[in-house]
Amino acid sequence: MEEKFEVNAEDVELESATFKESARRSQALWEDLPKNPARYRVLTGERPTGPLHIGHLFGTVANRVRIQNLGATTFIVIADYQVLTDRDTADAVGANVHEAILDYLASGLDPENGRTFFFSHSHVPELNQLLLPFMSLVTTAELDRNPTVKEEIRAAGLRQVNALMYTYPIHQAADILFCKGNVVPVGRDQLPHLELTRKIARRFNERFSPKAPVFPLPDALLSDLPVVLGTDGQKMSKSRGNTIMLKMTAEETARAIKGAKTDTDRHITYDPQRRPEVANLLRLVAICTGESPEVAADRIGDGGGGKLKAVLTEALNANLAPIRERRARYAEDPAYVRTLLRKGVERAREEGIATLEQVRKAMNMDHGLD
Ligand code: TRP
Repeated sequence: MEEKFEVNAEDVELESATFKESARRSQALWEDLPKNPARYRVLTGERPTGPLHIGHLFGTVANRVRIQNLGATTFIVIADYQVLTDRDTADAVGANVHEAILDYLASGLDPENGRTFFFSHSHVPELNQLLLPFMSLVTTAELDRNPTVKEEIRAAGLRQVNALMYTYPIHQAADILFCKGNVVPVGRDQLPHLELTRKIARRFNERFSPKAPVFPLPDALLSDLPVVLGTDGQKMSKSRGNTIMLKMTAEETARAIKGAKTDTDRHITYDPQRRPEVANLLRLVAICTGESPEVAADRIGDGGGGKLKAVLTEALNANLAPIRERRARYAEDPAYVRTLLRKGVERAREEGIATLEQVRKAMNMDHGLD
């Protein structure tokens, strides 16, 4: 691997300072959101690389639903261009976009409320055009340093890095800023991208529009939800085959849990350090039942891995049943799903057109034509 994709100590230090500051601002946001939801415009999303699993649901999507229900306007970007950062083609991307929307709807994101919008960024040209001015605000050295990009390059085992991979954090800034998003619910791995977005917003305002800032400085909204691991105790990911997807049936879920890794100690205890796999299953039980992982462990006691899995299967299937029922209902009506996407794209374009107009004016590029 080329040296420039190594993470160095200085970056790690910087990262942890950023993390503390971001966590502080995130906490303040959690306090203010319920009081002043109209102040906030939420933008978040993911790459359409496959169906959502319970890691997504419990880790981020549940949070989005919570924020949506507090009354904030919520834009969900389906980042289809980003799929091409670590692979050459994306044959399934169309199907995946459709599946992602089914998963969102099933989880409780609800465009019928008039405040929640789904869109794919490939269909919002004004968003993509922001990439050009934004690129002038970022140095190549800053792109070189991004630890999340480095990690993705390593994880994908790329020997050549395409320019989309290299620049996608700037594209992500455009995803957030085209609609003036000021709250971005994300996991910790996305913080470097959010820092870059804030830099871009700040630099644009200072350089082109010092008297009347065009862009807000968005904040990350970090989740207090526990990280859900896969059935083998590793990070949950489709490529490892260790996921439990929302679209699975109750029987498939039971089978996946049966195959989960545990250990040989029959007395179940919550010990994340020494028993990470058992702890993961206990946390899942806890998320579903609302009890603490320790209480769940006590309840299972000497029942061993078998009892733990039986308890989890029942709790998880009960929790997912209404989600799956809704998903099946929406799956019967693909035309409706397309209509929702079309409406989301329309609304996103309105936002993008208005922002791009402001951006051109600020840069002295409107030429009297806007
Ligand atoms: N990079 C994010 C991921 O891999 C997806 C994403 C694209 C995103 N654009 C975004 C997340 C804007 C938050 C805001 O999951």
